Amino acid sequence: MNKTANLKAMNQALQALIEVEANWLTNLANSTALLMQFMDDINWAGYYIWQQGELVLGPFQGKTACVRIAAGQGVCGTAYSEKKVQLVEDVCQFEGHIACDPDSRSELVIPVIVAGEVIAVLDLDSPQLGRFDEVDKNYLLEFIKILITETDFLPLLNNK
Ligand code: SME
Repeated sequence: MNKTANLKAMNQALQALIEVEANWLTNLANSTALLMQFMDDINWAGYYIWQQGELVLGPFQGKTACVRIAAGQGVCGTAYSEKKVQLVEDVCQFEGHIACDPDSRSELVIPVIVAGEVIAVLDLDSPQLGRFDEVDKNYLLEFIKILITETDFLPLLNNK
């Protein structure tokens, strides 16, 4: 399958998974498995969840990672503060990038926005330079949209 077909299949698989389950932790966990299964050349996929004033490591697949990230710090903290997707072709060129896995060369971070608030960020890392492009970004934005519409994130909104 080509890249676009893979991304499309991934989003369909997510839709099918979350149609039968609304629990936020379950859905975040299973969604990281889908990312690893459907996307090539990814070495880390997971979430940092906004809890009591900082981003805290949530469900992920890959090597162990840094546990807490402040707003504005690194690629994840920047996505949080700016409420904007961060597409980083070369992590060495991103000032303040936090190197969890030294193999990571490029990164894509998507803020998860519910009721106007960033409740988490989705972080994808690749050992390839320039691994992520606009096609990935757009399918990942749709991925998060699917996740948000079907998952109950109320416990996280109450936990801020
Ligand atoms: N590189 C991220 C930190 C998280 S790890 O990549 C899993 C950052 O700069 O925010």
